[in-house]
Amino acid sequence: MSTLLRLHDVHKSFGGNHVLTGLSFHISKGEIVGLLGPNGCGKSTVLNTVTGYCPIDNGKIEVGGQIVSGRAPHEIAKMGVRRTFQLPSMPSRMTVAETVMAASTGRHGLVSTLIRSLATVELERQTKERAAQLMKELLLDKVAHLPATAISGGQKKLLGIACALMEQPLLLLLDEPMAGVHPNLRAELVETLKRINRQGVTLVIIEHDMHFIAETCTRCVVLDKGRTVADCQPAELENHQGVVEAYLGKKPSMRLEAVGVPA
Ligand SMILES: Nc1ncnc2c1ncn2[C@@H]1O[C@H](COP(=O)(O)OP(=O)(O)OP(=O)(O)O)[C@@H](O)[C@H]1O
Ligand SMILES: [Mg+2]
Repeated sequence: MSTLLRLHDVHKSFGGNHVLTGLSFHISKGEIVGLLGPNGCGKSTVLNTVTGYCPIDNGKIEVGGQIVSGRAPHEIAKMGVRRTFQLPSMPSRMTVAETVMAASTGRHGLVSTLIRSLATVELERQTKERAAQLMKELLLDKVAHLPATAISGGQKKLLGIACALMEQPLLLLLDEPMAGVHPNLRAELVETLKRINRQGVTLVIIEHDMHFIAETCTRCVVLDKGRTVADCQPAELENHQGVVEAYLGKKPSMRLEAVGVPA
């Protein structure tokens, strides 16, 4: 499998807080990788650096072999990189349905005015259809008419995912997609993500819900103190010394089940 995302020796500090301390890992095309680690270890910062929201101090980030460090978020998005936010903020004057549809850039490259207007009508039809399908899959169809600011925290998470999927990305980075979402929806979310992965989307998922990780991911990268301490299968997490130390400190006699890692 070819490498889609590579971080090489990435450093990032906020004032005196050295958050990423020489972080290196790669994601191959077609994978679903869990990005794990204790609170404050730098997971969201990784997403912010990859998507151009946060410049790095040192090192290199590549998407599809092209260096993206230093590029603006919209340029990186154009390369097919989409993300969701840990704490999503919603547009204040749009409904849920309008928010999802607005996430489509509606690009077309046709020349003649007639063809362009026909293409626009067709594009609008496709955009509406895709938005309706995503809202149904993510159980947002019942709140499609509500202001995006009026829906619940869990529904805002799902809305963020729907927006990120409007234009099938190459690489989708999800920041805690299950946080605030009812556990009954876990199986459906797992299935949705696996299906879009089969359609060609590579996924990186930050998540503290270890059952979700075990059910969804093919590989896990675990961070601690801003660098990689484990790169393993979900089933290997429980007995991985680096993971045990990251979550529990140097107490290998304790079991990771205590912090939610399924046996
Ligand atoms: N824009 C910023 N300005 C200053 N400090 C920041 C900024 N962004 C992140 N940090 C700091 O970087 C560290 C890592 O934060 P980050 O949000 O990446 O952690 P995380 O691993 O995502 O944690 P959690 O699991 O709690 O979401 C924290 O100490 C945080 O305060
Ligand atoms: Mg975070």
